Amino acid sequence: MTAPSRSHSTAQNVDAGGRQAIAERLLSGSVKRSYSPVVDLDWDAPLDPDKYFLPPRVCSLYGTDLWNNLTEEQRIEMSRQELANILSVGIWFENLLNRALLQRLLNQDPASSVTHYALTEMGDECRHMVMFGRAIERSGARAYGNAGWQRLIMLLLPFGLRGSRLWVAALVGEEIFDALQREMLDDPQLQPLISRLMRIHVTEESRHIGFARDGIARRRTTRGRWETFLAANLHGVAALRLKYLFTNPAMYARAGLDKQEATKAARTNPNFHRMQVLGFASLAQFLEENGLMTRFSRRAWRQAGFLE
Ligand SMILES: [Fe+2]
Ligand SMILES: [Fe+2]
Repeated sequence: MTAPSRSHSTAQNVDAGGRQAIAERLLSGSVKRSYSPVVDLDWDAPLDPDKYFLPPRVCSLYGTDLWNNLTEEQRIEMSRQELANILSVGIWFENLLNRALLQRLLNQDPASSVTHYALTEMGDECRHMVMFGRAIERSGARAYGNAGWQRLIMLLLPFGLRGSRLWVAALVGEEIFDALQREMLDDPQLQPLISRLMRIHVTEESRHIGFARDGIARRRTTRGRWETFLAANLHGVAALRLKYLFTNPAMYARAGLDKQEATKAARTNPNFHRMQVLGFASLAQFLEENGLMTRFSRRAWRQAGFLE
């Protein structure tokens, strides 16, 4: 090979030194602790008919009058639909992240550890998508789809996810789910299959979160005003979208509830609001510390229920 192309050397400058060291550490962590969900989960074990698919206290209707009037069976069914909804959102997000990472690699040195770690992360996400899809199927629910306009946005989004924006998007998709999974995975009311799925997911996601956080911290000194402005504001738009994704009216309808009444109850539920705040707390602090929160984004997260 002749002298590296301009794009390779640019990528190496941004990623030089410390970034390579982080990638190498994450690569060796991936060798030591990676899972193959097809064999590492006992898909044939019978489901426990008395256990939940999400712990009740995490369900969006928990504690509302509507919830209090449901039978135990209806509550379990609601948790099954909420799990299928969350896993569906997880699959869309991992699909989006993988496409954004892969596009980025067109400008990067295929021989660098940073590239190798990004490819390893994509492999993790591919296995997660299989694991999530299979869990939806095993739970007896059906996946939730996207409207045409949502699919179009998802298709185009990777073209806009560069630099700090890419890493902020990765964290918004990963950290909230991660914090909530850590909070619930040991709950004795949870189906053992789902508990194990969450354990596998948080183990592998902690590397992804480390990579994205490092990407943000490292760019902090070199990013320009425009990059900072976009990265610090655009996640506020995602906040408003997340609120609607978490309280998708279709899941209440599939659980046999009145769609409008249940959606309204969930979106005004103080218990659910507490869970949202818990899920976002660590990311909110990280974004504040790295100068990536603005008046607009703070207000959007508050309006969406993720900040007090
Ligand atoms: Fe994942
Ligand atoms: Fe991830």
